Amino acid sequence: MASKNKTEKVGIVGSGLIGRSWSMLFASVGYQVTLFDIVPKQVTDALEDIRKQLITLQNDGLLRGKLNAVEQFQCIKGSTDLSATVKNAIFIQECVPENLDLKKKLYKELDAIVDNKTILSSSTSCILPSLFSEDLKHRSQVIVSHPVNPPYYVPLVEIVPAPWTKLEVAAKTREIMKEIGQAPVSLSRELDGFVLNRIQYAILNEVWRLVEEKVVDVKDIDTVMSEGLGMRYAFLGAFETAHLNAEGMENYIERYGETIYNVSQTFGDVPRMTQNRSAFTICQQLNNMVPLERLPERRAWRDACLTRLSVLKRDMNTKYKQ
Ligand code: NAI
Repeated sequence: MASKNKTEKVGIVGSGLIGRSWSMLFASVGYQVTLFDIVPKQVTDALEDIRKQLITLQNDGLLRGKLNAVEQFQCIKGSTDLSATVKNAIFIQECVPENLDLKKKLYKELDAIVDNKTILSSSTSCILPSLFSEDLKHRSQVIVSHPVNPPYYVPLVEIVPAPWTKLEVAAKTREIMKEIGQAPVSLSRELDGFVLNRIQYAILNEVWRLVEEKVVDVKDIDTVMSEGLGMRYAFLGAFETAHLNAEGMENYIERYGETIYNVSQTFGDVPRMTQNRSAFTICQQLNNMVPLERLPERRAWRDACLTRLSVLKRDMNTKYKQ
């Protein structure tokens, strides 16, 4: 429940695309957000961008939370002082570029100024938390909260502990993610690719093989996803889809288990995209579908679709979820 008087402080480190989204998500329930960047202009640009985004969201009826756009914006302030950003914050969400050396350096700085209570959470897409936290004094407070772009409309957050992350840090992070309206999943341990990318890579590998073997072209394989599997997967996971596709999962296993195993035996080797002879034709087909100069336009269309989908999902969950 949003409260106008929330006093808890959250720090966002890095004010790029993801840092801006996190700031808006925390402000949507009234956290006092400090948005820090080493580049002062990034901070002023980010604040102006956030202000405009919040007004647009409000005008479009898409603003999250119970506070209005002005009230949410008042919850966010910029900073170029890391110590001030971290001081008294219950939670720091790090959003600096995906570069291990940079993250290591930053976490060392954070380690020197953070107290024993603040959670240090990283947005990293694929760096294992142990790699930048091992030597820290406060390493048990470090965790990954990996969002999906654009986080304002795609709520999944993967919570990934390092081997030494305290259980209560993982639990509190999950609680905070739920509070700001995201959909957290908690991994029991760190592993390469976390969960989302492991699934994404399994799909990419098979679609690559099917195009390489000339079974279908790029356009048709993408139709299989967007007009077939993806329609269901926007609402149900792979397990519940199976459960509903038979008279429950036990029946699904009886009916399809052996077939799935046998078909899966025919999957080929993992394609190595950087050295694969089909890379040229796959890129060519994609460039014909969406020429590179039209990528920004197509991304805007994707985001508009995700916005509508998120509204539909919210409505379906409110009206029909049992
Ligand atoms: P970005 O490049 O848009 O922004 C990074 C910001 O960090 C810049 O404003 C830069 O000035 C600032 N920065 C650089 N060094 C800094 C330091 N030492 N202290 C404070 N600020 C510093 O990056 P983006 O896309 O926002 O990504 C941030 C993190 O989020 C990365 O780890 C990325 O893997 C992850 N992520 C990104 C997604 C995406 O689609 N962009 C999706 C999910 C996660």
